[in-house]
Amino acid sequence: MLGKRELASWPQRCLLGLLVAVAAALLGVRAAEEKREPVYVGARVCAQCHHDQAGGDQYSRWLLSRHSVAFAVLAKPEAK
Ligand code: HEC
Repeated sequence: MLGKRELASWPQRCLLGLLVAVAAALLGVRAAEEKREPVYVGARVCAQCHHDQAGGDQYSRWLLSRHSVAFAVLAKPEAK
């Protein structure tokens, strides 16, 4: 009498192998994505692109505005 494994024809086995390979690949991609951590780059990085006159001097204007020190309020005792 034949075991269950021997009953599976080769196309079925190929399909199963393909599914396992695709699943493994997808899991691998997921695992790689999960390892990526967000990084705080700070505002000066923004200036690389947002600094020129053509763009309205966005970085300088922001730096001179009160928005650039908005987080300072979080250091006040009443913010704790
Ligand atoms: C590599 C270049 C680059 C860097 C670095 C960059 N930006 Fe931009 N940013 C752009 C471009 C290009 C646009 C689209 C401009 C447009 O549509 O006119 C944009 C658009 C924006 C907008 C939308 C502006 C609008 O009028 O809708 C904001 C807000 C913005 N950026 C904020 C930031 C901040 C904050 C940082 C830093 C953390 C940053 N950007 C860093 C290139 C950059």
